[in-house]
Amino acid sequence: MRVGVVGLGMGLYLATWCRRLGMEVVAVCDRDPGRRAEARELLPGAASVDEWPALLDQRLDAVVLANDFDEHTPLSVAFLDAGVHVLSESAACVDEQQARALLAAERRSAATYSFAENYVFHPHVQLVRTIVEAGEIGRVTLIEADYLHGMAPDAVAGLIGDPAHWRGRIEPTAYCTHTLSPVLALTGAMPTEVAAFPVDAADPRTAVVMVVRLDDGGLAITRHGFLQGEPDSHWSWFSARGTEGLAESVRATGERAWSVRVRKESWTDPGGNVRDEEREPAPLFLPDGTRVEPKAEGTVRILEGLRACVEDGRPPLVPALPAVAASLVGVAGARSLRENSRPIPLPDFVVRGAYPVS
Ligand SMILES: NC(=O)c1ccc[n+]([C@@H]2O[C@H](COP(=O)([O-])OP(=O)(O)OC[C@H]3O[C@@H](n4cnc5c(N)ncnc54)[C@H](O)[C@@H]3O)[C@@H](O)[C@H]2O)c1
Repeated sequence: MRVGVVGLGMGLYLATWCRRLGMEVVAVCDRDPGRRAEARELLPGAASVDEWPALLDQRLDAVVLANDFDEHTPLSVAFLDAGVHVLSESAACVDEQQARALLAAERRSAATYSFAENYVFHPHVQLVRTIVEAGEIGRVTLIEADYLHGMAPDAVAGLIGDPAHWRGRIEPTAYCTHTLSPVLALTGAMPTEVAAFPVDAADPRTAVVMVVRLDDGGLAITRHGFLQGEPDSHWSWFSARGTEGLAESVRATGERAWSVRVRKESWTDPGGNVRDEEREPAPLFLPDGTRVEPKAEGTVRILEGLRACVEDGRPPLVPALPAVAASLVGVAGARSLRENSRPIPLPDFVVRGAYPVS
């Protein structure tokens, strides 16, 4: 399987994992000569180019897009139109027009689009999904998801203070894909409306809370940005309350942060007992027996998902519709922030049934 990679920050990490998993990384792209040099060292034999259209001549089976956060759609459309399978980092799109263009490109292409949402496949999120799918906590009605960094103020300013870099120019709601994608994957629902609130009105860029109505009647509350108390499970904490119980990742340090607490009240038990227990996720091993670090599990699973699309004709793990839905929550959330936190409806075509999913 011949893979190309655009953007060699996160992209270099993904490229090295591609090689570890036995895929052939044949070409990489970055405008930055320093990053290309780093890639040449880590990925000997891969062609290296500074403009992504040059990758269209490399007979790729798949491309991994890890360029700037807010510039993925044109590349996704171009590679899909060239028949190359796409694995794209977030965001999938930055407005409704791009969302429609991406959905149309996915529909007309023989290749597939996968959203590179490793947060859907982190161990604690997967374990909550297993518990929900087994019917253990009933119908899920309230989900909370955090994506939080507890950084020092000067480190935050260093990260998001430069308006020339994508981290400095994106809206404070934009990076909600790591919270919304797990919510959508767990429920199979689509978002219908979002209200967004700055945590600190005196410093609205730093952290936001969003309240998202889902089309299955449920509600999601998501927190992201820079707040103290970051979770050790790769900055992610996830909770699902059902009609018969609760499953949520444990607010603990270290390895225990990947575990899940399951709580069921006595009224749900024929014997009248409360159940409150902690479960550890099953570890993931590579074929050579090496254990995958928990924080890399999501990455391994999305790359294996891409391989399954290319080699086995499997459907994408996270296809374009939930990808644009999660991304457009960030767009609608930004509008809500500008309009005094009023609820903003999502476009009709993201609501379930309005788009013909093949
Ligand atoms: N899923 C995750 O866990 C995770 C983690 C980190 C980053 N990301 C995502 O990966 C993407 C990149 O993030 P990053 O931290 O590596 O950012 P970054 O700014 O460090 O790296 C982006 C790289 O892309 C290159 N680039 C941008 N546009 C280009 C173009 N048109 N042609 C050639 N090169 C181009 C830049 O020169 C830069 O080297 C973002 O979408 C981000 O959200 C995801």
